Amino acid sequence: MGMGVGIFGTGYAGLVTAVGLAEVGHTVTAIDKDPDIVARLSDGTPTIHEPGLQELLTANLEAGKLRFSTRAEDAMSASKIIFLCVGTPPRADGQADLSQVEEVSRTIGQQLDGYKLIVEKSTVPARTAYWIDTTIRRLAGPEHEFDVASNPEFLREGSAVRDFLRPDRIVIGADTDRARSLLLDLYEPNFDCPIVSTSVTTAELIKQTANSFLATKISFINMVSDLCEELGVDVATVARGIGLDPRIGSHFLNAGLGFGGSCLPKDLSALIRVAEGNGVDVGMLREVERINTARVDRLLAKLERALWVLRNKVIALFGVAFKPDTDDIRGAPSLGVVPRLHGAGACLRVYDPAATRKLERLYPPDDRLTYVDSAFEAVRDAHALVILTDWEEFRSLDLGRVGSLMRTPIVVDGRNLFEPAQMQAAGFEYYSLGRGEATFRTEPKRVHV
Ligand code: UDX
Repeated sequence: MGMGVGIFGTGYAGLVTAVGLAEVGHTVTAIDKDPDIVARLSDGTPTIHEPGLQELLTANLEAGKLRFSTRAEDAMSASKIIFLCVGTPPRADGQADLSQVEEVSRTIGQQLDGYKLIVEKSTVPARTAYWIDTTIRRLAGPEHEFDVASNPEFLREGSAVRDFLRPDRIVIGADTDRARSLLLDLYEPNFDCPIVSTSVTTAELIKQTANSFLATKISFINMVSDLCEELGVDVATVARGIGLDPRIGSHFLNAGLGFGGSCLPKDLSALIRVAEGNGVDVGMLREVERINTARVDRLLAKLERALWVLRNKVIALFGVAFKPDTDDIRGAPSLGVVPRLHGAGACLRVYDPAATRKLERLYPPDDRLTYVDSAFEAVRDAHALVILTDWEEFRSLDLGRVGSLMRTPIVVDGRNLFEPAQMQAAGFEYYSLGRGEATFRTEPKRVHV
């Protein structure tokens, strides 16, 4: 039985949640304060790059199960369940900026006209529900009943639609029977995965703990990767050898430039703050952050070893997005690499299958910074190629053509896309992370004194 659902915020989490809930049979009214976004979505044009989103957006708009509006009252009047999916970007001090959450909470408080269940889905620090509740209560007055619940999203960008429709689990955080049963009514008829029903604060903590563990796994393999370089062994083989133990699992053991995105870094710093705010020592998590931050430095040190002088060198950059199959650049290595190499006087030629335009808005082109529309255009006359994102498109490139276009066939691979032996056979000087030292075109004469 479909229910009326309101959603505030049509970013990555909000738009996928809106389309997904409509797809499983609910009637969704999604609100965004940006009229251009509302107009594009109402026309069936996705505002984010997510495989499978276009088809579901079109189908559910046509079926009348989904509509977009800038007017909050359109959601409030049509729905008993209201999801908060607005952005919670990190502030300069790393803490989440919750001003959009507060703004929507105030709007809901002012318009409350009967019981509502307000559900936080955005990635928020623990105890955010308390402040949402307080903000609404101050404005709505004691006569209006409402509850605040937590229903964290576990959507991976690039597979968010699939992750929504086929979740590993659904986590429901509610502190009243009424809130709990409403959320169970929303999900139980349409999903056959395990549902973890718990308190609001526990649900908030589950989200942060899950992402902090994933971040820890990535920093762990990156720490091992550095040891592998010193020992001259391949970290990918070590990862395979440990990942076959089901207690460890093979996922999230790819060594490289570490984790970016809008969730892992934010949830990790949120968990650190919650823990330290409660007197719990989480030095281990601070190490996870430190290891991650050092990955780009390690890669650029290899580039300098390969080129000696960066000034006036033509460097091709593959990959702007923080991971493949998305146009999201939040927390991406390119955000640090581009200004550092540009500042060192290099001439950059940047390519990404989906995210170039977003970086271009941040770092406008100039005589030493060019954004190009193909991988081959990027490597033309390049002294070196640096790989920052593991797009499948890069893995399947014609290496012979890449090498013939470059001035010097030097590849510094931050995502271990290629095999050292394969690159040596193709005539490249190949640097990567965790696989011994560089692979030279011919073994250099080692003078033993
Ligand atoms: C993550 C969580 O996976 C998801 O459950 C949560 O809801 C949101 O945050 P996302 O940030 O979209 O999803 O990307 P994810 O696929 O988790 O990758 C995160 C980062 O880790 C990327 O920068 C990726 O390049 C990096 N990564 C991932 C590695 O460096 N090594 C790996 O083995 C896997």
